[in-house]
Amino acid sequence: MNSGMSLTEYKAKQFNLSGLNGISDKTLEIHFKLYEGYVTNTNTLNRKIADLVNKGPIGADDMPVYSELVRRLGFEYNGMVLHEYYFGNMKQGGAEDAASGSAFFKAAERTFGSYENWKQHFVGVGKMRGVGWAICYQDPSNGQLSNHWVTLHEEGNIAGYRPVLVMDVWEHAFLLDYKPAERPKYIEAFFSNIDWEAVNGRLVTLSSAS
Ligand SMILES: [Fe+2]
Repeated sequence: MNSGMSLTEYKAKQFNLSGLNGISDKTLEIHFKLYEGYVTNTNTLNRKIADLVNKGPIGADDMPVYSELVRRLGFEYNGMVLHEYYFGNMKQGGAEDAASGSAFFKAAERTFGSYENWKQHFVGVGKMRGVGWAICYQDPSNGQLSNHWVTLHEEGNIAGYRPVLVMDVWEHAFLLDYKPAERPKYIEAFFSNIDWEAVNGRLVTLSSAS
């Protein structure tokens, strides 16, 4: 029996986020709309691919269109998911630094020698030229953290690693509030709004890494 591909329709999440320090409500409003576009485009791509798959074997004539649709999935899916991590690791009344003794603080110390080392490295990644993301992942197999640059939304993600702290450094994240060359000010503002409880909640606890 072939009942066709069953489609998961993604719904944009609502984030109760306003009144942040140094990131204006207007920026957030525009950013939420951009995020919703990624959700819509993910659903549209999935629908178009399902139509092709359900129609029968993908023939040579379908291949160019099919290939382009599939390639775009990486951009749209990651655009959707990374924004959810990003909005999800900020809150009104956030704190600039992880509490010493917290799970994240200890994981940063264990991996980088000190929390300060981790931070200056992560901030450095955020200042890299180009359009993309700074992401601190955790390797779930050993609890180690690692900081990475992701170009656009999809190039540089580490398969199977858990995004723990996600910072958008596309210019749309700060252009209403800062000049393009003032990205370091935006990064400072981002840090002052971090929801460390959310960050700690993303860590897996390993008995060997506790
Ligand atoms: Fe963004």
